[in-house]
Amino acid sequence: MPDTSHQISRLVKHRGVTIPTFLYGTAWKEAQTEALTSAAIESGFLGIDTANQRRHYDEAGVGKGVQLALAKKNLQRGDLFLQTKFTYAASQDHRLPYEPEADYTTQVRQSFTSSLEHLNASYLDSYILHDPASSQGLNAADWEVWRAMETLQKSGSAKLIGVSNIGFEQLQLLVEGSEVKPAFVQNRCYARTRWDAGIRALCDANDMIYQGFSLLTANSVELNRPEIHAISKRLGCSIAQIVFRFALQIGMIPLTGTTSKSHMQEDLASYEIELTEAEIDMIENIAFIDK
Ligand SMILES: NC(=O)c1ccc[n+]([C@@H]2O[C@H](COP(=O)([O-])OP(=O)(O)OC[C@H]3O[C@@H](n4cnc5c(N)ncnc54)[C@H](OP(=O)(O)O)[C@@H]3O)[C@@H](O)[C@H]2O)c1
Repeated sequence: MPDTSHQISRLVKHRGVTIPTFLYGTAWKEAQTEALTSAAIESGFLGIDTANQRRHYDEAGVGKGVQLALAKKNLQRGDLFLQTKFTYAASQDHRLPYEPEADYTTQVRQSFTSSLEHLNASYLDSYILHDPASSQGLNAADWEVWRAMETLQKSGSAKLIGVSNIGFEQLQLLVEGSEVKPAFVQNRCYARTRWDAGIRALCDANDMIYQGFSLLTANSVELNRPEIHAISKRLGCSIAQIVFRFALQIGMIPLTGTTSKSHMQEDLASYEIELTEAEIDMIENIAFIDK
């Protein structure tokens, strides 16, 4: 019998909702958004991350790509997990999905309605606050936005809600003050913070799942260490597969936004490899090996 102790399911239940354990991210794809979103689903990704922030994402292109892939693969909307975000005007360009003079409750409602239209959906699986209004604390705008998101979750329009680009104290405040606790935290994940260890511990303690992005691009120095190359040699796998497998094995949902079909396949194949406990410990502490 093979050792299946670290066999990782592609789908798990979180607060009663079926969620994929690996997400395809759609930022910075511009004219390729539709084709790449479709290719990712055709490759086997079951979850898509986007944002109603035209500056970095083409959410309408994502919607077209989803429709194309559903038709090609003969899938239903319910077979896919769709996640998008509410983004403050300060992080947008002139192409806003809401009236900027409206109150935040209205902005969230307008942005959400526009996302449903873009994605040709009647509900979203996950709705994320893209960034708190400032890097310290949570202000009145954040609370108004969060209350509006709680309303969307309670109505069933968004099955789960979450937050992105958030610090430890801010997340503590949100957990303490929210009626609907965030289901997800999506952060840029650095080896030098022990892969956001503090926030991940807070997630574990509060039934929140951590989604990590920039795993490859934010950690190129650490991932080029000889210890990582040794694992690559042992398993005959790529460095990208090691970091995605590491994320999966420690209970994190990794995001990849690769623009390459072969990298899509390669990234999903990280389900097939397995790191030892010692390798996991080493990667957890890789930024501190020489310190
Ligand atoms: N919440 C936020 O504020 C926020 C911010 C940033 C990103 N995100 C989300 O996270 C997603 C991923 O973004 P990211 O910052 O992690 O970067 P990314 O878009 O995934 O970029 C990864 C880079 O690594 C390269 N690469 C080389 N080998 C690869 C492999 N095997 N697999 C994947 N990439 C490989 C890619 O090149 P190739 O294209 O040639 O493979 C690409 O240049 C975004 O699309 C977005 O959905 C969210």
